[in-house]
Amino acid sequence: MNVMEQPILEMKKISKAFNGITVLDNVDFSVKKGEVHALMGGNGAGKSTLMKILTGVYTADSGDILIEGKPVNIRNYEEAQQNNISMIFQEFSLIPTLTVAQNIYLTREKKTSIGLLDDQDCEKKTEKLLEELGVDIKPDDIVQNLGVGYWQMTEIAKALSQKAKILIMDEPTSSLTKTETEVLFSFINKLKAKGYSIIYISHRMDEIFEICDRITILRDGRYITTETCSDTDLDKVIQHIVGMEFDQAFEWKERPYATDVPPIFEVKNLNAGKVRNINLTIQPGEIVGIAGLMGSGRTELLRSLFGIDHIDSGEILVNGQQKKIKEPRNAIDAGLALIPEDRRMQGLVLEHSVKDNLILPILSKLKKGTFTDNKKANEVSKELVQKLNIKTDNIFKQARLLSGGNQQKIVLAKWLANDPTVLMLDEPTIGVDIGAKTEIVEIIRAMAESGKAVLVVSSELPELLALSDRVIVMHDGSIKKEMQRREIKTEEELQYAIQGF
Ligand SMILES: Nc1ncnc2c1ncn2[C@@H]1O[C@H](COP(=O)(O)OP(=O)(O)OP(=O)(O)O)[C@@H](O)[C@H]1O
Ligand SMILES: [Mg+2]
Repeated sequence: MNVMEQPILEMKKISKAFNGITVLDNVDFSVKKGEVHALMGGNGAGKSTLMKILTGVYTADSGDILIEGKPVNIRNYEEAQQNNISMIFQEFSLIPTLTVAQNIYLTREKKTSIGLLDDQDCEKKTEKLLEELGVDIKPDDIVQNLGVGYWQMTEIAKALSQKAKILIMDEPTSSLTKTETEVLFSFINKLKAKGYSIIYISHRMDEIFEICDRITILRDGRYITTETCSDTDLDKVIQHIVGMEFDQAFEWKERPYATDVPPIFEVKNLNAGKVRNINLTIQPGEIVGIAGLMGSGRTELLRSLFGIDHIDSGEILVNGQQKKIKEPRNAIDAGLALIPEDRRMQGLVLEHSVKDNLILPILSKLKKGTFTDNKKANEVSKELVQKLNIKTDNIFKQARLLSGGNQQKIVLAKWLANDPTVLMLDEPTIGVDIGAKTEIVEIIRAMAESGKAVLVVSSELPELLALSDRVIVMHDGSIKKEMQRREIKTEEELQYAIQGF
């Protein structure tokens, strides 16, 4: 074998079961030096578990890991690092109040003679590293003052300073704007040119084809195929992921809704922190999409309507009745539901079962005297699991043991069960696989069709365009533009409107 062709990493016939349930079955995976290799598959396919085996979080039941042809044992994260493997964590491991240099050298910094962290030494080394990597930040920048995109680069710089040669990124762009994503991609290209290998996990197909050299696809814990990006196409990849021919139903259909009845939801002159002077009405059955850049106030608007952020002034009306919303409880009572962006943090009790999470908002409806109607609760939970295709062994499994995407689906399902009058969703399909994305779009449409008002924030323009009857564009906390969906001819047109302020 040609030396250049020798993979830097090989995982051979890796199997893993939890409580007798196989989640990885004889999986092969191999990465070359200097390539970006996508690891793809539906929610629960086993991607994160395979990477946890590579980084020593779990031990495989069987199979081998080889680095540059040599078998290695990886029993914990230190041993992964000794083998030049680093994980770029999604939940960032940086300390926001420290500088970039301090974060990079946090655990290994040279101490001065009096035992303090030698900042000058760290900063010099960091400056050199950042320069080499061509990253446009300074060693003494405080991390919390930097954009999220730069957090990630700091995290990567930290990994490289620890001699990493193989970097694992599990959905790195889910909290990045388009511009930040582009900066990250050009950074990844630089790393690639320097010979680093990157394992890239994402559900965003356009990203995969933009940044990756090869793709390995897992389905239900089994290895399906490895393809070279330039020799395959989107349809084939989706077919391998889903396991059948699949038509991505991201097509917008004009849906009729009642315009001759009073609005079901009204916001008048709302001010809340950075959110300024919002006026908005939604008809029953109408879906309003909110577009805007990161920081334009989209999330803040939803949070204030739901009573999480304090409202300074203004009125909120549901079915023509004015509602006082001081806390989420009031919002729920008024018939509002918010599916937050950061669902793992805000929407789930990780230690509770799938079922307990699902029935939380509808507990009062499940009461039989002073007791909860357990039979009904089980029925409802099973129904929701089925409806959203949540992958779990049973409804009693702890939420934290589900894959990332399946956790997202629980939060969606739980608010749908509550049957709200006004459904607000913030980035509803982040982290959700291609099959489930279209399911979720259909479910949101069906909610609207049953006469609800839907307000949805999404940075994925195809999704926003597929859903919305009307799109409002926010900038700097205010609504700057409003467009009927039928007037928007192309995605570029909307992109232009978003960036035009
Ligand atoms: N510690 C655990 N105990 C029991 N089951 C687990 C555990 N960790 C993972 N699983 C199960 O293994 C399967 C694979 O999960 P994994 O997190 O690897 O999926 P994934 O491909 O990363 O999916 P996603 O795209 O949703 O993040 C899931 O069905 C999950 O519930
Ligand atoms: Mg995962």
